[in-house]
Amino acid sequence: MREAIYPGTFDPITYGHLDVIRRGSKIFDQLTVAIARHPVKEPLFTPDERKAMIEYLVKDLQNVSVVIFDGLIVNLAKEEKACALLRGIRTFSDFEYEFQMALTNRSLAPDIETVFVMPAEDFSFLSSSMVKQAFALGGDLSRLVPKNVIDCLRRKLKREAGSTGKEA
Ligand code: COA
Repeated sequence: MREAIYPGTFDPITYGHLDVIRRGSKIFDQLTVAIARHPVKEPLFTPDERKAMIEYLVKDLQNVSVVIFDGLIVNLAKEEKACALLRGIRTFSDFEYEFQMALTNRSLAPDIETVFVMPAEDFSFLSSSMVKQAFALGGDLSRLVPKNVIDCLRRKLKREAGSTGKEA
């Protein structure tokens, strides 16, 4: 049984992340999508909201589960007895950061490999921040994120506008 962990902030999940999940679910027996609480990034969505969005989208993938984690990703990998961390490399500019992260993780846990996949080129420009920015400015996101994510963004923006007294 070969398990991999796919960590990220997923604030929110995009078609690019989903592409990585689908590829990973074909390579490994079990894939755990691990959502970092990541208070440093001040995510728009709570960890539970991010988890619910992802769970809805992976419900057809029998070997994919979703968890929330704090702390070091290698500790979660050890707890789960995972053999690998899965990461996507979108462009050459991702490489340096991924290289540093993979080597740091290797020095923390030498038995855990980092496995990279390339998401479809259609999504190579995509990031969660771009999605949030485009949404806030009224852009059409239908080719970037699934419908349930657009609905969550809409609800979140409405709620935030309500709490500040502005119109959504
Ligand atoms: N499709 C679309 N967007 C993608 C993508 C893909 N395939 N891959 C990455 N992105 C986007 C992400 O949405 C993110 O966007 P944002 O910065 O606008 O939020 C950006 O690219 C960076 O992604 P990533 O490198 O995966 O960062 P992250 O914040 O999502 O995840 C962790 C980083 C959580 C994996 C990392 O900080 C971590 O492991 N933390 C735990 C602490 C730890 O163990 N540290 C030691 C390791 S160095």
